[in-house]
Amino acid sequence: MKPKAVVSKAAMQLLLLLWCFVAVEGGGQEFPGVGPLIVTKERRSTVVSTASGEITAVDVRDGYGGAYHLQFITMAPSSLFLPVLLHTDMVFYVQSGSGRVTYIEEDENDETEHIDVVRGDIYRLEKGSVFYVQSHPDPTRDNLRIHAIFNAVDTDNTKELPAAAYSNISDLVGGFEDKVLQTAFGVSEETILAIKWVEKPPSIVPLPHTSKTVSFGALRGIRSLTADDEEVTNKKKTKAFNFFKAKPDVENCNGWSTALSHKDLKALKGSNFEAFMVNLSRSSMMGPYWNPKATEIAIVIQGRGVVEAVSIGKPSRETRFKAKEGDVVVVPRLHPVTQLSYNNEGFILVGFSSLVGKNRPQFFAGKKRSALRILDREVLAMAFNVPTAIVEELLAARVESTILACTSCAEELEGRMKEGSKGDEEHEQEEDDDEDEEREAWKVDEEARREAEREMWMLQKLV
Ligand SMILES: *[C@@H]1O[C@H](CO)[C@@H](O)[C@H](O)[C@H]1NC(C)=O
Ligand SMILES: *[C@@H]1O[C@H](CO)[C@@H](O)[C@H](O)[C@H]1NC(C)=O
Repeated sequence: MKPKAVVSKAAMQLLLLLWCFVAVEGGGQEFPGVGPLIVTKERRSTVVSTASGEITAVDVRDGYGGAYHLQFITMAPSSLFLPVLLHTDMVFYVQSGSGRVTYIEEDENDETEHIDVVRGDIYRLEKGSVFYVQSHPDPTRDNLRIHAIFNAVDTDNTKELPAAAYSNISDLVGGFEDKVLQTAFGVSEETILAIKWVEKPPSIVPLPHTSKTVSFGALRGIRSLTADDEEVTNKKKTKAFNFFKAKPDVENCNGWSTALSHKDLKALKGSNFEAFMVNLSRSSMMGPYWNPKATEIAIVIQGRGVVEAVSIGKPSRETRFKAKEGDVVVVPRLHPVTQLSYNNEGFILVGFSSLVGKNRPQFFAGKKRSALRILDREVLAMAFNVPTAIVEELLAARVESTILACTSCAEELEGRMKEGSKGDEEHEQEEDDDEDEEREAWKVDEEARREAEREMWMLQKLV
């Protein structure tokens, strides 16, 4: 009898724990019609893991039919990511290390192109390209870490793409009948069998030492070590954009931000993706904004912070959540959002904007960039249902920049989150009717008060 009781108690506790976990994880971080706004690092799936490297992945949606696949590729020094055929555009950020990306694009002639990449680089490979990656052969180097985003929906015809973002070259060739391959390549059956019947390697393998592929690092060094003009002599003028070498768009003691467009990186031309980086110093905030024509998919690359977003569904709701290094944060287009850092830690995000048109982030406040300042004050006063004086006060624009100091703001929001989730639980458990009634009453009161205020204001205007 006794052990059984113990077991069931433990099971109960586990269930309760799971329930709490689901309630906290799922609740409040998801808007109706949109997927989760945050996918933590712990929730990534592992695609491949070998001694030479690892690939983990995350899938997100924006609620407008946009779906994105992200891969986090880690390669030890002196490794090779075997060739694949891209099903969709790939835009990637180099988080650490260095290496060479070699590719063939569909409209190219017989030569391969390559680009040497270092930390901070952004580059794009077109759908239909074949590419492979070599990490720097020097064993003392950092791992080459690449954060890549792929469209999971074909941007040309809005059809959902097959599950994978790319295919193995070996799988593609191996898919044909032996006879077909024998004839096509003009080789013996043995040659074909030799190719088809060996065990397929994982996607990331050690770089063969005998191969001439090694020479690039040894002979010329990676781009950062040589002059940038080496790339200029390259006939395609392929060159990545580097966030740490560029002048930020906004910069002050509270942090900096840089947005990268098709104009800044030729390789992005024709892609629906742009890229951005935000570095918030401690105790800082990115002023609230929305993107009219872009969904932001950002990866926390350093530190942690809090994100607050407002849903545009009905009823309008807000959500706030913590994000730490490795987490993916999704902000669907049109949804107002703000990011805040804690007092003891900076918060750095690199992100991809998926565009449906020309996009310029719209800030609510601030001297230069406030979208509200453009609107007529009286119209705004009516919109907020307050006297014009209040709107004047609101838009007096004491604030210059879009990146502001905000001491203990993230901490306060985190406190609010804890209260919020506690409140929800109590509410669910007790089904507190009184509370509901109270809330209803308050709502009526509030409406009456506003109506009175509005009438008063109208009267004043008339007089
Ligand atoms: C290639 O295919 C094999 C077997 O289908 C798989 O184990 C491997 O991970 C694939 N590699 C890539 C790069 O997708
Ligand atoms: C981010 O900003 C802080 C302070 O503004 C700076 O010290 C730090 O080096 C920056 N980090 C990166 C990765 O640029």
